[in-house]
Formats: sequence, structure tokens, C-alpha cells
Amino acid sequence: MPSPRREQTLLPRPTRFAPRSGHFTLDAATTVRAAPEAEGAADLLRTLLTPATGLPLAPSTAGAVTLAVDPGLLGLGQEGYGLTVSPHSVLLRAATPTGLLRGVQTLRQLLPPEALAERPAAARPERWELPCTEITDVPRHDWRGLMIDVVRHFHDAATLRRQIDLLALHKLNVLHLHLTDDQGWRMPVAAYPRLTTVGAHRAESMVGPDGSTRFDGRPHGGAYTRAELTGLVEYAARRGVSVVPEIGMPGHVRAALAAYPHLGNRPDRTLDVWTRWGVCDTVLGVHDEVLDFCRAVLAEVMEVFPAPYVHLGGDECPTTEWERSPVARARAAAEGLPAPAALHGWLLGKAGAYLADHGRRPVGWAENGSRLPPGFTVMSWREPAHAAEALRRGHDVVLTHHRTTYLDYAQDHDRCGPTAQPGPVVDLRAVHGGDPEPHTRGADGARVLGTQAQIWTEFAPTAADLDRLAYPRLCALADRAWTGPTTWPDFSGRLTAHTPRLDALGVRRHPTPSAPRTDAAPAGTAPSA
Ligand code: ACM
Repeated sequence: MPSPRREQTLLPRPTRFAPRSGHFTLDAATTVRAAPEAEGAADLLRTLLTPATGLPLAPSTAGAVTLAVDPGLLGLGQEGYGLTVSPHSVLLRAATPTGLLRGVQTLRQLLPPEALAERPAAARPERWELPCTEITDVPRHDWRGLMIDVVRHFHDAATLRRQIDLLALHKLNVLHLHLTDDQGWRMPVAAYPRLTTVGAHRAESMVGPDGSTRFDGRPHGGAYTRAELTGLVEYAARRGVSVVPEIGMPGHVRAALAAYPHLGNRPDRTLDVWTRWGVCDTVLGVHDEVLDFCRAVLAEVMEVFPAPYVHLGGDECPTTEWERSPVARARAAAEGLPAPAALHGWLLGKAGAYLADHGRRPVGWAENGSRLPPGFTVMSWREPAHAAEALRRGHDVVLTHHRTTYLDYAQDHDRCGPTAQPGPVVDLRAVHGGDPEPHTRGADGARVLGTQAQIWTEFAPTAADLDRLAYPRLCALADRAWTGPTTWPDFSGRLTAHTPRLDALGVRRHPTPSAPRTDAAPAGTAPSA
């Protein structure tokens, strides 16, 4: 079988492409013409291509490669681009600088895989050929993300920068950082220094899944500096990736309560930073100091993270402490709430309103029983029906269903390899198939913003683990989020051609099945653990 032309192997697949005959040759003399608003994309092109190819791609007003922003270009939106490669010129155009960043990744994938490497290619050719082509490419969804949990295991800023590079290669545009939880607090907050001096460290970790009785007997921890987080945000922005921070509440806060017991419901009790996995029943109190705490933390979060969205968690919040606490019961009564359980929505509502007053949009995890307040963008992680319900109630929605987006679940049916989170098998086909997108639009124009993969890190302590869990499954999510549903043969054929790109970048991927399975298991019907 003849090998496919390179534009047929692009991942994600572009909206429209037409092969043309011939090629454009890049060599040491090739220069790049970029107006000031296109300079960021020209810099990225050099950052990405020069190490492997040695091509300087020097700036010049007479460059044969032109990068241009034209806000008048219609139909490309915030992230679309048009690319024309002819024998004597390359023209990349977009209505925004971000659109150009997406087109740069396409240019990169049009070159041989060796051009993607971070080091000089072994037998470095002096000339690199770009196939002539005409591409118009516009994403299907605005939110195309990956969540990384940096709490269950800490992953340093260099590891995250590398993951951002890989997100950008796949035209993913959100890195959601899960920064706080029962097992640690990773972002320094000047107003509450013990959050990281105390809350960033735990004595040991459970070995095996939730319920295990074994512990590893050694400390775990880590926190970023503010400069590291600011640097990460800038690094991501240069690649067109937005970093969305998650500061979880009212549950999943045991690390914060270990640092500041007065923020809980039992100030007399000293808590450790949790060493177990699972759901912990210690939650935030609902007294005024807690509201002050939430506002102070979110104020610093907004200083560091300029993204329009801030995630407030909201998942897995047992309400037993509030039911037992006279203070919480009095608060529920004073606020006219039907029961202490409603303090979940009340507290999230207060924090969400604070964000909204500062021009930001709150995001939360939705699950049965706990409704998120109006104005929250909903990540529906349990059942697709919750997404449809949230849309009906007027929320914007990001699809994050565990059966198709939780990359910490096993990725093979034979469950070989390192421990995975117990749960369904989420193989490449399940991610590729995704979930049907609910078509329901809420009365006030609520919509599906997009989709996002999750890597919870109970069983992912190393940078190599993140690679192994993400790739190649994240390629399938990226394709779906940018292009929309594609057939399995189309996707798996492109993935086969894409794999050498991942290899050139040193991605420690999970082995791709050598032949696609033919027993088409529809998404979400994988056997349970
Ligand atoms: C979740 O998996 N608890 C959002």
C-alpha cells in the first residue's frame, strides 16, 4: 500500500484539505515574514523546528514563508487558520494570533517526524520538504483540555511544560491543574502560608487502590513557587494553551484543614494531610472565616492565573459534618436553606459569585444529588445524562465522563502494566468513540463547550507515567475535540502515521495495538473492574 500523503496523516484531522502537486523546500536560506502580531507564531515556529532541523528561519520582510493575522478573515473564529503551501511560498493566515499558533503545529506535522525532535536529527538533511497543500481548519469545540492532578502525586513545572508542548502539538488548548485536595496543597498563598509549609507534605501514601491497608512509609510532597506558576502560565500562553486552576471546595480540603484546623467543622481536632485515597468526610466549615479564606485564596489565584475560568471542585462532598455541627446547622437555618446539605451549593455560590464579581467564570464537577449554582460551567463526570440535565438548567458544559475521558483507568482489556484506578477499561476505542454530544441547548443559550481528559495520579508518580496514561489516548480525544467524530479506520490510520512523531519527541507512550480490534465495543460498555 502506498504511504499516505502527509496532510492525510495530520492529527487532529483538518476540517478541509486539498493536496497539490510539488513541494516547498525549507533550507538554511529560508526566511520568515511576520507582522508584529504574528511574531509570537514565528518565534514558536523557530522554537519548535530549529533544534531538530538546524534551520534558522530568520526574520525577513522578503520571507517566502509568511505568517499573517487578518481580523477580517471570515469563518476562522478564534483558533482557525488557512495554510497554502506552494512550490515557492508558504502562506499561513488567521484572524487571530492564536489561530496562527494552531497553524504552526500543522506546518510541523507536515514535515518528516524527525523535524519534531527536541535535539538535532541524527543524519540531518540540509533541505526539508513540505508537501504543497491547501488547508482550512477550524475547531469544532472551544474547550479541548487535559486535567492533571498534581496532588495525589506532585509533578514539577518542567514536567508540566513538557505536557503543555504535547497538548499544543495536538491543538488542545486547556491545561486544567488540580492544585488542591485531601493529600496536598500545591499553590503558595501569601495570606495563608501554612497551606504549603504544612499542607504540601504528607507522611506516606497508600499502596494500591482505595481500601488498601498497605502504606509505603515514606513522605511525599511538593509545591510550586509563585514564579514557577506564573512562568508556566506564560509558557502555555505562548503555545495557545490556557491554564485553568482548580481550588477544590467544600470537600477534598483535608490538606488545608491540616494547615488551618479553624477552617473546618471541628477546630478542636488536629488532622493530618491525608495519606489514603478515596473520599474523606472532612469538609470546610461555613462560618465567616471560611468565606474570608475562600476570597483571599481566590484573589491570589486570579493574580497568578489570567484564564477566564477558575475551577472550584464541588465533587464528592459528604455532608455529615454539617449535619452534626451546631454552627453549620445555624448557618443553614439563617440562610433559609432546607437542610445542611444545601450548604454545598451555598458555599460554592458564594465563591462563584466572588469570581464572577472579578470577571471570572466558576467551573465545577457535577454529580448526582449536588446541583451547581447558576453561572457555573459544569464538568459532568459521572453520567452523560448529567450533561444533558445541566444544559437544560442553563449551564455551559464540558464533557468529562469517566468512561471515556478518565485516562487513569486501565487502557487494555488484559489490564497488564502498572496499577490503574479501579473502574471501567478506557481503551483507545472508548476515547475515540467518546460520548454522544447532547444536542439540548438550554433556554438561555447554554452549550457544550467541549471535552477534556483527566489524569488522576494516585498511580502516576512519575513523568513517564503521565506520558503512558496520556498517549496515545489523548490523541483520540484531541481529534474528537478539534475535528468531531471520525471513523475508527480513519483515526487509527492517522494515529499509525502520527506515532513516529510521538517517538521523535520521546513520548513514553503505551504500546498501540498493532492491529485495530474488530469487535467494535461501543464507548462506555467496557466491562467494570
Ligand atoms: C472526580 O472524579 N471526583 C471528579
